[in-house]
Amino acid sequence: MSSYIRANVAALHAYTPGEQPRDADVIKLNTNENPYPPAPAVLEALPTLMPNALRMYPDPVCRSLRQTIAKVHDCEEENVFCGNGSDEILSLCIRAFVPNQGRIGYWEPSYSLYPVLANIADVGVEPLPLAADFSWPAIPRRYDVPLFFWTNPNAPTSLQCPVDVIADYADGSEGVVVVDEAYADFADTNALPLTREFANVLVTRSFSKSYSLAGVRLGYAIGPEPLISALFKIKDAYNVNAVTQRVGQLAMADQEYMHKNVRRIRATRERVSQRLTQMGWQVLPSQTNFLWARPAAQSASEWFEYLRAHKIYVRYFSGAAVREYVRITVGTDAEMDAFLKIIETAEAVS
Ligand SMILES: Cc1ncc(COP(=O)(O)O)c(C=O)c1O
Repeated sequence: MSSYIRANVAALHAYTPGEQPRDADVIKLNTNENPYPPAPAVLEALPTLMPNALRMYPDPVCRSLRQTIAKVHDCEEENVFCGNGSDEILSLCIRAFVPNQGRIGYWEPSYSLYPVLANIADVGVEPLPLAADFSWPAIPRRYDVPLFFWTNPNAPTSLQCPVDVIADYADGSEGVVVVDEAYADFADTNALPLTREFANVLVTRSFSKSYSLAGVRLGYAIGPEPLISALFKIKDAYNVNAVTQRVGQLAMADQEYMHKNVRRIRATRERVSQRLTQMGWQVLPSQTNFLWARPAAQSASEWFEYLRAHKIYVRYFSGAAVREYVRITVGTDAEMDAFLKIIETAEAVS
């Protein structure tokens, strides 16, 4: 171990992103991307981006983009912060809200990036375990942390916690509650109303899933102005590049297109879920663009390998609480039919 490296960095287990295969004929159901293209206006704008938009620094505070987001969510520009993916905002939240000897909280299993971000920032973690069926047990009354990441709908389990439950925790907490809503556009409800009701609630959203823009890296937070201002104080000067600001604004402006794709994905989600259930798989009722499913025959890791051998990539996590499940991103109908066919054929043979 080199003494040049900070001890927490030397000891760090870095986050493992899902695989991005170069092979074009892989059906990629492993990183919860959207199978449909971004909004038409985005595709039209890209070739016409003025050279000046690239030559000059971008707007450091993303004003136009934030105005569009604020309009869609019926809030003020001062309530909106934009980041280089919602991941950047989660990281900034730790730096802004957790004191030196502080800890962050989150449910386990949830987004595996949180403990990595805590380790990078050299702050502690105090996760709360979900129940065996992945529901949310009561939080012990004495439990409180300066920052709690509440993934809702949860990943990788796909379930949605009732917003009242989050409100109850926020109401009694001395810390900030960040509701990580990367998948909220695929869900029936969301926690945005809490950001108006409570001084300590922020909601984070992503352009990577419902807006089909994972490649440009854009996320945003909505919340009370003092929390948003704290994020502005500590961000890098130009944290969102000019191309991303422009295409993000165009994507956000076309709500109809986004909702149309979300409806398609939800319909495919229900169809695939029913078919897997008929085949004896246990599929949790998803409120996201992925399914969390326990296979009927063979273990989850065997299915993962088998599908992979047939060029269908899903996500498998080996942790104790999650190793019996696979996470399957909802792709196009054709992709999901190919996925189902492999499973049906394998089940018929076994
Ligand atoms: C729960 C959760 N939050 C945040 C993110 C990151 O989103 P972004 O691409 O906006 O950084 C993901 C990505 O998979 C996620 O699953």
